[in-house]
Amino acid sequence: MTAPPTSPPGATVLVITAHPQMEQSRINRRLMHSARTLPIKPVNDDPTGAANTEPNAPAVIVRDLYALYPDYLIDVAAEQALLADAQLVVWQHPIHWYSMPPLMKLWLDDVLAFGWAYGPGGNALRGKDLWLVATTGGPEDSYHPTSYNRYFFDAFLPPYEQTASLCGMRFLPPLLLHGAHRVDEDEIDAHVGVFAQRLSSYPHWPELDSLLYGLITQVPEDARPEDAESASERAGA
Ligand SMILES: Cc1cc2nc3c(=O)[nH]c(=O)nc-3n(C[C@H](O)[C@H](O)[C@H](O)COP(=O)(O)O)c2cc1C
Repeated sequence: MTAPPTSPPGATVLVITAHPQMEQSRINRRLMHSARTLPIKPVNDDPTGAANTEPNAPAVIVRDLYALYPDYLIDVAAEQALLADAQLVVWQHPIHWYSMPPLMKLWLDDVLAFGWAYGPGGNALRGKDLWLVATTGGPEDSYHPTSYNRYFFDAFLPPYEQTASLCGMRFLPPLLLHGAHRVDEDEIDAHVGVFAQRLSSYPHWPELDSLLYGLITQVPEDARPEDAESASERAGA
């Protein structure tokens, strides 16, 4: 385990949110809206930046993927530039088929590139934090060996956790809301309030210093045959 680096004060928070039908969402739309309307520092020319009323609050940028990329043509350079500036990366989405919605997955496929996010020279995300904020339709007790989802919800987290680890990121304890179809307005308000409080207080979360970074997984130079071939061509072999 490597020691966690100290998060800089006023670190940038980047919220990547994906919902194929955001306009019909009860929960994720509220979460996204709360991130967009936090009393935060404005960030560069980001149109989602609100007025600064909290000098020590982090700057928050929200990327609504289905609104930005209805054609699924992700601007990889733009996304990588925002990631490079962020200290906390938030993935906020409903759980679809025990995983993430398809455009969110495409965002990972395209943006977390070999040689940039992982693999030889792929250090762009090293030392950053990743926070999953997800909702499920199934209630918490459905995620149990005796119920229809069969597994505790934790069983679906390793792909997220290992993605963070491979990129040298720290995977923070997820914020989950189960039973999204049936929670009442008070529960939604409370959940959105926790989300907003966490965003605006980052990196001053009491538990952060005790959370370690995962094992650094070194991907060998020749992990991809095509890259090894082009490397040997470049070397004149
Ligand atoms: C295609 C699709 C797949 C889904 N898969 C799951 C699932 O695997 N587990 C689950 O608990 N809920 C699943 N759901 C329910 C969503 O998680 C739920 O509708 C969402 O969390 C509600 O959030 P919202 O109010 O922001 O839309 C699925 C919904 C859709 C549309």
